[in-house]
Amino acid sequence: MTVVLVTGGASGIGAAVARRFARRGAQVVIADVNAAGEAVAAEIGGLFVPTDVASERDNDAAVLAARETFGGLDIVHLNAGTGSGGVEFDLDAYRRIMAVNVDGTMYGLRAAVRGGARAIVVTSSLAGISPASFDPVYSASKHAIIGLVRSFGSALTDVTVNAVCPGFIDTPMIAAFRDRLPEHGLAVADPDEVAAAVEQIADGDETGQAWAVQAGQLAKVDFPPVELVRC
Ligand SMILES: NC(=O)c1ccc[n+]([C@@H]2O[C@H](COP(=O)([O-])OP(=O)(O)OC[C@H]3O[C@@H](n4cnc5c(N)ncnc54)[C@H](O)[C@@H]3O)[C@@H](O)[C@H]2O)c1
Repeated sequence: MTVVLVTGGASGIGAAVARRFARRGAQVVIADVNAAGEAVAAEIGGLFVPTDVASERDNDAAVLAARETFGGLDIVHLNAGTGSGGVEFDLDAYRRIMAVNVDGTMYGLRAAVRGGARAIVVTSSLAGISPASFDPVYSASKHAIIGLVRSFGSALTDVTVNAVCPGFIDTPMIAAFRDRLPEHGLAVADPDEVAAAVEQIADGDETGQAWAVQAGQLAKVDFPPVELVRC
């Protein structure tokens, strides 16, 4: 039976991913700082592991719990993330966002690979492939995730590593401005659309890729090739 670990699985996109994999019979581990993950895990017959992804030890413990409880680990979705919504040079916010989004991804990648996962999907953002003036530090952290995914995707052979880059998704993260988006002609997607993309990518053979997910659209991101100047 497939074993899936989802960080940030207590809410939003992560909860949709947990539910989607559970529907197809997977054993699902939800790793989150939010104790609401307990209820999601109970609903799908999964396991909740209280986890702060900014802690190396917590990432290792979540993987260990998956292996000990369900006998292995197949797919990991490193999805927990945070932002500030601000443009101030707030160093505390900078360190917190980098700790959760970038350290959390690095620790999660390491734990997942050591735990024997065959597919890892990381949640970046459209803000990870384009500037986001509403939250520059969040955007920078999501760019860093793309760099980790593309580079480890090239370096690792026994596991696929890909990123999803959601646009506006109807979760608590965008609750403060969600209702104003249609006024600006912007579509908001259901979290299960991202979950479907995560499932498709994890089941596929491609690695080191970033995939943009917006309402009704899943598209591989094209990065320009870089030619090295030769002497
Ligand atoms: N909603 C969107 O429009 C959107 C767009 C692009 C990217 N994203 C990304 O999607 C991911 C999921 O966000 P969401 O939209 O579902 O929001 P959400 O707020 O519903 O879920 C985020 C989850 O991450 C968890 N989390 C936060 N910090 C954590 C930590 N240190 N350790 C463990 N868990 C932690 C939260 O408790 C929560 O359950 C995030 O990485 C976010 O940046 C969201």
